[in-house]
Amino acid sequence: MTTYMSSTSHMKMLYGSLFRLIGKKNRTRVLLLQILFLLTALFQVAGIASIAPFITMVSNPAFINTNTYLAFLFNLYAFESDSQFIISYALSVILLIIVSNSIASYSLWKLFQISMRLGAHVQRTIYKSYLDNDYTFFAINNSSRLISQITQEIPRMVYMVVQPILTLISQLFIAALIIVGLLIIDISIALTATAIVVSVYFLIFKLIRSRVVESGNLISTLNLTKLKLLDESIGGIKEVKLKGTEDYYKQQVDRVTVRGLSASAYIALAGDLPRFMVETVVFASILGLSIYILLTSGTANEALSTISLYAMAGYKLLPAAQSIYRAYSQIRANGSVVLALAHEIEKSTAHDSPLRTLGNEPAPEGDIVFNDVAFRYPNTAKFALARCNLRIAKNKITAFVGTSGAGKSTAVDLLLALLVPTCGTITVGDISLDKQNIKAWRQKIGYVAQTIFILDASFRENIALGVPEAEVDPIRLKKAAQLANIYDFIAECDGGFNFKLGERGAKLSGGQKQRIGIARALYQDPAILVLDEATSALDNVTEQLIMNDILSLAQTRTIVMIAHRLTTVENADNIFVFKLGKIEDQGTYQSLANNSLEFKALLSAGKGSHK
Ligand SMILES: Nc1ncnc2c1ncn2[C@@H]1O[C@H](COP(=O)(O)OP(=O)(O)OP(=O)(O)O)[C@@H](O)[C@H]1O
Ligand SMILES: [Mg+2]
Repeated sequence: MTTYMSSTSHMKMLYGSLFRLIGKKNRTRVLLLQILFLLTALFQVAGIASIAPFITMVSNPAFINTNTYLAFLFNLYAFESDSQFIISYALSVILLIIVSNSIASYSLWKLFQISMRLGAHVQRTIYKSYLDNDYTFFAINNSSRLISQITQEIPRMVYMVVQPILTLISQLFIAALIIVGLLIIDISIALTATAIVVSVYFLIFKLIRSRVVESGNLISTLNLTKLKLLDESIGGIKEVKLKGTEDYYKQQVDRVTVRGLSASAYIALAGDLPRFMVETVVFASILGLSIYILLTSGTANEALSTISLYAMAGYKLLPAAQSIYRAYSQIRANGSVVLALAHEIEKSTAHDSPLRTLGNEPAPEGDIVFNDVAFRYPNTAKFALARCNLRIAKNKITAFVGTSGAGKSTAVDLLLALLVPTCGTITVGDISLDKQNIKAWRQKIGYVAQTIFILDASFRENIALGVPEAEVDPIRLKKAAQLANIYDFIAECDGGFNFKLGERGAKLSGGQKQRIGIARALYQDPAILVLDEATSALDNVTEQLIMNDILSLAQTRTIVMIAHRLTTVENADNIFVFKLGKIEDQGTYQSLANNSLEFKALLSAGKGSHK
């Protein structure tokens, strides 16, 4: 798409986006950097300019008297001899070059430092824009893509766009000053020299431009594809092994890598190759020019000083021109990254997240009531939950049952305020759950998810999740583990609570993971405990033990649990039967078993599968 856009409008958009992305503080930093660049360029050019007179003086000392500036200096400091003057001049030039290169090194250091800062700023912005979003954002965005933006596209922006832009500016200053200097000395030669260099680079870039831009866009796509392939194959290694798809993944990853590398190689080559052609043309021109001067003026001395001036100018101008060209082609190739990142932030910030900034009001207390609550996930047509009315009594046990996909987890996520009702309200003791009190509300809830997320860390860190190591209370830790029936297992592990669980809990069984999840919810001693299929992976005996523990907590806590195994909810005070996003029936186990057709259907289906 960007390939067909005109060069200038593309670049304008790119600079505009980048300008907005980097933030106010960094814009000032970049501005100050330009002043440093200008200073660097002045010194660099002064360094070059001071060489030519030196060469002339050495070959012809009389030049000191004939040149007005040199004669002025000679008299100003009252030198005694030409050689003394030449030596002093040489020492001053050396000093100038030392100073000039020190400034150049400093400005290069600043260039790197500031480009890293810009990268860090953009990364902060994008990561914040992701994390501030509601949970629905993550349900509709591919996680590999989100990770790729931060791990691959931000570094690409820093190294392939920001640094080249800064390099380009710094070299433009140098090139411009050299050209101005040459213009002062000899307009026609300066113009010819500039025209030759610029047109050679321009022609080459015209020829390769579209492929450079294409290669850049290709790299973005391939980066993402590769991350997805790696994530699928390594994350889903069990399925890969079972289906024997290792070779498929090896080939795909290889193909993507090779294509990506050849695209990068093309961009690198496109940036460096013209140097040889330009050097050839320029040196041929300098040699031609010297012969021309020699033939027309006839004196070797004059030819020598002119040639040395142009050779020195070329010595700085050519690398400057080459750097400008190289930077420009890199920016063209990778500039789409900036537009993509800007778009990404825009999209992420525009995602409808009603809970982006939360207040600090205290949590409400009392019965939890759903008033005509309906919910639809973004990008779906069907309501996952439709006009749902229910009351969850304080300090009682409430259960949700129903077939898979009936909307139980959605109802729980609404209760946790991870999701916001599409219509209707949720009140707690007559106070609506809203942005102001949700933060405190969530703190009150201990939640065991349907799939437990295990950190690659110790039992301690997994149970006291989010609590700093030093603040973990060992007594509460032990109590939570005991209630969740995992304490004996932990005690047997090497190092006890310090035992490391491996990535995604690789060293644990499904039921052990669930019990860690329960211990985690209990560690905070929450006023409300929400269990979404928290005991589904446990055997009947272990489940019974944990349920007894949980029942013992029930007098002083509100408990909400979802279960497929209906024996789990036998002791619930109230059971809601979900069907196709609606509440079909409610009551105690006994009353539902007698009166609810839906519950009876669940019961008889359950008898077949759970013995
Ligand atoms: N992130 C999502 N995006 C779109 N639709 C979703 C999403 N999560 C769930 N749904 C849909 O919402 C409906 C209710 O799902 P929910 O997870 O609440 O069911 P459930 O009753 O908990 O089922 P289960 O017993 O299988 O856990 C389903 O039809 C499901 O397809
Ligand atoms: Mg569920």
